[in-house]
Amino acid sequence: MSEKNKTFTVTAALPYANGPLHIGHLAGVYIPADIFSRYQRLINNDVAFICGSDEHGVAISLQARKESITPKELIDRYDKLIRDSFEEFGISFDNYSRTSRKIHHETSIEMFNDLNKKNLFSSKTTKQFYDEEAKQFLADRYIIGTCPSCKFDEAYGDQCEKCGATLSPDELKNPRSAISKSKPILKDSKHWYINLDEFEDFIRDWITKEHKDDWKPNVLGQVKSWLDNGLKPRAVTRDLDWGIPIKIDGEEGKVLYVWFEAPIGYISATKEWAEKNNKNWNKYWKDKDTKLVHFIGKDNIVFHCIIFPIILKMTGDHILPFNVPANEFLNLEGNKISTSRNWAVWLHEYLKDFPDMQDVLRYVLTVNAPETKDNDFTWKEFQMRNNSELVAIYGNFINRVLTLIIKYYNGILPNPESIDEENQKIINEAKTFPKLIGNFLDEFKFREAIKSLMNLARNGNKFLAESEPWKLQKSNPEKVKEILYVGYIISCYLSILSEPFLPFTSNKLKSQLNLGEIDSWSELENLDSKIDFSFKIKSEGVLFRKIEDDEIIKQVEKLNKMSSQ
Ligand code: MF3
Ligand code: ZN
Repeated sequence: MSEKNKTFTVTAALPYANGPLHIGHLAGVYIPADIFSRYQRLINNDVAFICGSDEHGVAISLQARKESITPKELIDRYDKLIRDSFEEFGISFDNYSRTSRKIHHETSIEMFNDLNKKNLFSSKTTKQFYDEEAKQFLADRYIIGTCPSCKFDEAYGDQCEKCGATLSPDELKNPRSAISKSKPILKDSKHWYINLDEFEDFIRDWITKEHKDDWKPNVLGQVKSWLDNGLKPRAVTRDLDWGIPIKIDGEEGKVLYVWFEAPIGYISATKEWAEKNNKNWNKYWKDKDTKLVHFIGKDNIVFHCIIFPIILKMTGDHILPFNVPANEFLNLEGNKISTSRNWAVWLHEYLKDFPDMQDVLRYVLTVNAPETKDNDFTWKEFQMRNNSELVAIYGNFINRVLTLIIKYYNGILPNPESIDEENQKIINEAKTFPKLIGNFLDEFKFREAIKSLMNLARNGNKFLAESEPWKLQKSNPEKVKEILYVGYIISCYLSILSEPFLPFTSNKLKSQLNLGEIDSWSELENLDSKIDFSFKIKSEGVLFRKIEDDEIIKQVEKLNKMSSQ
C-alpha cells in the first residue's frame, strides 16, 4: 500500500463487573468498536483495541452486599462471564484487562501522585454522612430516606428510583444508613478535587476548533450543554473501603474516585499488552500522530469528552481523543432495557437458544444500531432481518454459486476464455465496495456500511437471477463458465468485506472459497492473480438458517415471564 500506516488506540467502555452483558451493551459499544478495529487492521493500520472490567465503585460494593458475597467474589464471577461473552461474540480485543490488577493500581496511583505533586488538585474539608455503628463514611447510594418530591420511603441519596428525581443526601427526610440502618451523623472529611472549571475554555476551544465537524451531533450537543451549565470542581477521592487505596497527607481510608481511575484503565491495559508483546505503550498514548478513539454509550459522554481529556491534558504529555463516537440507547420491545427488572436479552442466554448464531445478532444490532437516536430491538425484526436478508439474499446467493460450481464442474472453478462487457461491469461494480464501505466506517457510519455490504450480496443475487445460468448449460456452456466465475468473484469480495461485521461467516466462507490466506483488503485489488483454478470447492452446508415463528414467540414469552415490567 502506498498510504502510510496509521496508528489507532481504540477503547471500548470498561463494563462494570457487577452483572452480565446484554444486547444493549453489544449494540451501543462493543460491536461498533470491534467492526472499527477489525477494519483498521484489514487496511494495514496499527491497532491497539483495549478494554477490561471496571471493578471498583459503589455499584460493585452495593451489589456484593445484595448478594451477600465479597466484592472480590463478585468481580471474579462477572469478569469471567463478561470475558466469555466477548470471546464468544468474536469481540477482538488486543487486551481485555481488569482494574483490580496490580498494574492498574500502580498506574492510577502514579498518575494521581504526579498531578498532586504538580499542585494541580485543590483540597477541601467538608461534612460527610458517617455511620457510627459500621464506622465508615457513606457514599450517596448508601443513604436511604424519604424522597422530598414523591415521599417514597426508600429513595437513595443520589436518586429516587420511584419518581426518578436526582437528589443529594441532605435532601432526604429521615436519612438512614443502608449498612446498619442507623441514623448517620455528619463528620469532617478532606478530599482532593480536579478544578474542572479552570479547563472550561480549554475544552470549548478544543472541541470547537478541532471537532465541530467530525464529531457526532449527539456528542457535541451534550458537551455543549455541560459547558453551558458551567463545570464545577469534582472530587477524585472517596471515603470507601472498596477501591484503589491512596495514601495522602496522613488521611485514612481514602480511595480514588472510580471515574478518576477507570478511564486510566485504558492506559494500564495498554501497558500490560505492550509488555507482553514487546511494544512501547507510549506510542499509543503519547504520539501526536496516534488516533485515540473512545467507543461508549451516551451516559458516558461527559467522562470521555470532558473529564478524562482534562486529566490527560493535566499530565502534559498524553494525546486527546480523536473521536468519541458515542451511541444512543437500544430499547427492547418498546421498553427501556433494565437489569433490575430483568427486561433484557442476556448474551449468555441468547447463545443457549441460538447456538452458533453470533453473526445474526451482530448483523441485526448493526443494521439497526442506535447510532443517531434511541432504537428498538424486537424479536420480530430480528427474525425478519435474518430470514429476508441473511438467508434470502446473502445465503441464497452464496449457496447458488457454490452449488452450481459443484454441480456443473465438480467443484473446480471454471476459467472462462473471456468476460463480456456486461459481466465486466458487474465485476467493476464489486470492486468499488471496499472504498464505499471503508468510507462509511471512517465516518463511524456502521449502519450505512453494513447496508452496503448487503447491497453487494443483493447485486450478486440479482445478477444470477437475471443471467439464469441454469438455463444455458446446454445452449451456451462458455457463458455459464463466465457467469459462475463472476459469481465466484463477487463471493470473494463478500467474504473478505464481511470480516469486520460477520467474522464467523467470513471465516467459513473464506475457507470454502479457498481465500484463507487473505487478510488485507488491499489484496482484493489483484484478486485475479490469487485464484487457484485447481482448488476443489466442497459443499459445507448453508451459512444462515431460517428462524421459525415459534422460536420468536418463545423469546417474547420468556421476556414477559422473566421480567417484572
Ligand atoms: N463502567 C462504566 C459504565 O459501564 C464505564 C467505564 S468507562 C471508563 O458505564 F472509561 F471509565 F473506563
Ligand atoms: Zn421520589
